[in-house]
Amino acid sequence: MNTPTIKPGQVPKRHYLQFKDLSAEEYDYLLGRATLIKKRFKNYEKYTPLFDRTLAMIFEKASTRTRVSFEAGMYQMGGSVVNLTSGDSQLGRAEPIEDSARVISRMVDVVMIRTFEHTKIEAFAAHSRVPVINGLTNEYHPCQILADVFTYNEHRGSIRGKVVAWVGDGNNMANTWLQAADVLGFTLHVSTPSGYEIDAKVAGVSNQSCVKVFDNPMDACRGAHLVTTDVWTSMGYEAENEARQKAFADWRVDRDMLAVAQPDVLFMHCLPAHRGEEVDADVIDGPHSVVWDEAENRMHVQKALMEYLLLGRIG
Ligand code: CP
Ligand code: NVA
Repeated sequence: MNTPTIKPGQVPKRHYLQFKDLSAEEYDYLLGRATLIKKRFKNYEKYTPLFDRTLAMIFEKASTRTRVSFEAGMYQMGGSVVNLTSGDSQLGRAEPIEDSARVISRMVDVVMIRTFEHTKIEAFAAHSRVPVINGLTNEYHPCQILADVFTYNEHRGSIRGKVVAWVGDGNNMANTWLQAADVLGFTLHVSTPSGYEIDAKVAGVSNQSCVKVFDNPMDACRGAHLVTTDVWTSMGYEAENEARQKAFADWRVDRDMLAVAQPDVLFMHCLPAHRGEEVDADVIDGPHSVVWDEAENRMHVQKALMEYLLLGRIG
């Protein structure tokens, strides 16, 4: 395998904070690279183009998939990783985010951040010398939707023109699905309980024709090519848990919802999942579910993303 010879600084700095930060054409490229990178990984073929690069990961919230996929992915590409949390760094002792960005980005080549308000990652990015990747904020989770679109492609081909049904909270995942519908040209059916709707301003989508809102989750699932959901209570909203359990009771994805979708509908969930809350066990563990591919694909798409941000287009 030829290793690209691009030097740091040769690729213009780009951040990946929201799904709409990349174009449909760039997503085509990235999905192609992720396919190739995954194939090499499956064939035990060494590919270490980031051998001299370091990723800093900053976690202000818990994680399993994001931590493992970024860390394993960076090591597989030959690079190294530094992991920071609020508890074991000065971030938890009120060092300004701008100062942290200035310092950390002098020592590493790329930064992944999982935090609360999106404005925090924007402040970091504004003061960072290197690309910043959003590993989840209260408002967006672009790496997850990148993996979900890749997973849809693997199983069913292009998502363009298809219908994706979002059942549940109008949260970071829902906002990001809406951006993806806008950028990639599919329709998002959304059904949320009253009071938990997607905020169109937060989602930041000008083209409202890519979204259709339904009061009843069954109606949202009708004819869908993909049905997807997420926890009722996202990280940072734990104080609302009791109220949410009541409000979301009718928004559990069950067999009846899949039965009105396309016969070959896929089910996705970013995980962690709560069987018997937002999804029934026979759905997430059933024949339409691709959640384990979806989780694994985080690593492959993020390797393609880091390669793109650090080395630009290959070949
Ligand atoms: N889906 C996802 O981001 O999982 P983690 O919270 O485990 O990283
Ligand atoms: N919406 C969830 C996603 C977890 C990966 C949360 O923000 O907690």
